[in-house]
Amino acid sequence: MKTAAICEVLSQKELIPGIFDLHLKAHEITAAAVPGQFVNVYTKDASRLLPRPVSICGIDRKHGILRLVYRVSGEKTGTRQFASLRKGDEIRLLGPLGNGFPFEEAAGKHIFLIGGGIGIPPMLETAKAAKAEGAEIDVILGYRDLCFLDDEFTAYGNVYIATEDGSIGIKGTVLNVILQEQLRADIIFACGPKPMLRALKAYAEAKNIPCWISMEERMACGIGACLACVCETKEKDAHSHVRNARVCKDGPVFRTTEVVL
Ligand SMILES: Cc1cc2nc3c(=O)[nH]c(=O)nc-3n(C[C@H](O)[C@H](O)[C@H](O)COP(=O)(O)OP(=O)(O)OC[C@H]3O[C@@H](n4cnc5c(N)ncnc54)[C@H](O)[C@@H]3O)c2cc1C
Ligand code: FES
Repeated sequence: MKTAAICEVLSQKELIPGIFDLHLKAHEITAAAVPGQFVNVYTKDASRLLPRPVSICGIDRKHGILRLVYRVSGEKTGTRQFASLRKGDEIRLLGPLGNGFPFEEAAGKHIFLIGGGIGIPPMLETAKAAKAEGAEIDVILGYRDLCFLDDEFTAYGNVYIATEDGSIGIKGTVLNVILQEQLRADIIFACGPKPMLRALKAYAEAKNIPCWISMEERMACGIGACLACVCETKEKDAHSHVRNARVCKDGPVFRTTEVVL
């Protein structure tokens, strides 16, 4: 069940330049959230009515703490406004939204958890849930250059890193890591930029590995009402009879075989 809530900021810090780690008191949202879902975050500025969708990076149900890790996308943006939040400030959220990863599919399996850039944060809580299901996990993280959150994944599995410039880990993409290290998996969960998801879809389908991806389409309402976020699907929707799905409501997580990228 989604809840609209005014949440208190417990802490915020900058992990690397432009990437912020925000902890919020959000009891009702954490009580209902599952890994791979997201929240709509509202700005205080009346000229920006639309919320910003941000994935859930951490769920602490016991203490009601929600963790979001986000990138400031530009100077006069909503995310720039979020970066000025301090302990004790309040912010409006709606969530949890979307479907989340089917982490129960990971039970007892060898899985790849793959994150690229700002697609990495939702994989952290997914790693925790998959580990709790008894999965054996290879975490593969792709960065441009500077790394963030990588040290936190070591609690859940073997961590491999790819950077575009090769300054840390393997030079290239997450797919270069899989091929160079000759890694194998029964299933794949991934979130990241579209070119990465497209490459993983091709890899997974060629190898016949079930693969779920979280898509970060541009959104407006974030709750299924406006159709701003539709993606193309293989099958026709039973109600609309067109080949599309709303990423915010039907996703953001899809089986790669369901969507056209
Ligand atoms: C399901 C989902 C999960 C996401 N999770 C994260 C995350 O964990 N961390 C993170 O840093 N970013 C995440 N994003 C991307 C994040 O929503 C955008 O970077 C953010 O909305 C940009 O807002 P802005 O105020 O900086 O930019 P502005 O340019 O001011 O935004 C203008 C409008 O465009 C929308 N918009 C712009 N870029 C995007 C985008 N990439 N996706 C969706 N809407 C966009 C905004 O929501 C807003 O309504 C996620 C996106 C989606 C769809
Ligand atoms: S953003 Fe409005 S339907 Fe998805």
